[in-house]
Amino acid sequence: MSSDFATDENEPKHQRRIRYKGTHPKTFKEKYKELQPDHYADTVAKVIQKGHTPAGMHIPICVKEILEILKITPGQTGLDATLGYGGHTVEMLNCLNSNGHLYAIDVDPIELPRTKERLERLGYGPEILEIRQMSFSQIDQIASESGPFNFVLADLGVSSMQIDNPERGFSFKTEGPLDLRLNPKMGISAASRLKNISLDELQGMLIENADEPHSEAIARAIISNRNKGMGISTTTQLQKIIMDALKFIPKMNEDKIKKSCQRCFQALRIDVNNEFESLNELLEKLPDALAKGGRVAILSFHSGEDRLVKKSFKHFFREGVYREIAPDPIRPSSDECHANSRARSAKLRWAIKA
Ligand SMILES: C[S@@+](CC[C@H](N)C(=O)[O-])C[C@H]1O[C@@H](n2cnc3c(N)ncnc32)[C@H](O)[C@@H]1O
Repeated sequence: MSSDFATDENEPKHQRRIRYKGTHPKTFKEKYKELQPDHYADTVAKVIQKGHTPAGMHIPICVKEILEILKITPGQTGLDATLGYGGHTVEMLNCLNSNGHLYAIDVDPIELPRTKERLERLGYGPEILEIRQMSFSQIDQIASESGPFNFVLADLGVSSMQIDNPERGFSFKTEGPLDLRLNPKMGISAASRLKNISLDELQGMLIENADEPHSEAIARAIISNRNKGMGISTTTQLQKIIMDALKFIPKMNEDKIKKSCQRCFQALRIDVNNEFESLNELLEKLPDALAKGGRVAILSFHSGEDRLVKKSFKHFFREGVYREIAPDPIRPSSDECHANSRARSAKLRWAIKA
């Protein structure tokens, strides 16, 4: 039977607008306007103006400085080794001016298709931009097919979309599964990692990956809770364990406790994603992936990453592989740090192949 009022089962059901308490949305899901920038451009602009990153978006860091280093000209071939939201990608594409080719990769199977679709809607199709899901540790593979590259950018770490989405478990600001994987289809989650780790290994991880000064107290608390059969499967459960372990720190130093929580999450994230191993592979393979005179810029967000970049650039400079390297890291301007608090810890280094 057909009727004008018959509902088609394939039609999407009408969804009620998300309601929230108070005047402003607080949780990720409540921020439905920020999550639809195409429909709510005004809301998104207001959030950015206030110095915040809208939910589901990432503001690219040190854009001007990166473009000054890479000196991209039309006709060149380049690689964005960390696509993310595609902010840097678009800036680099603008420099190519529809002439040349940019390859962009990322390991994240959740955000990558969203970014790909958004960039396609902006008019960047395969004739100018090719996007692939892969790790930058495989730069040799993509370089052998599509290189050598005139320019390479790696903006390390995690994107704001990954941090802000509670389902990914990157932040203790909201309750979520303790996952922390950039690619949740690969490897093991942080919760699983904590199930079998030894005290020494955990303490070592907190020191090596995050220079955590209270590594021993925190590692002991985590292992003790686990051995008592207490669950450590969510972000806030882990946060509570860390905070309880640091009760000896006076209350007025709450900021110190928060920093320790951030460092522990960072240490776990680096571990479950093998971030140092991937970065080392990238740094080792980079010279062969670059064309003569090719330029690379790497943006790092903590001392562990920056140390590796600095060491590798210096090593290849001494060997004569790079003709020039950054004498010191470049930091974002105070205006940028003011406008985007996530820029504060960034350090930018560069190298030019001989
Ligand atoms: C800081 S964000 C990049 C943001 C991007 N430049 C932008 O403007 O939107 C870092 C990105 O690197 C990705 N990533 C981390 N490790 C990676 C790896 N080994 N290979 C490729 N991508 C990686 C993360 O998934 C994340 O999307």
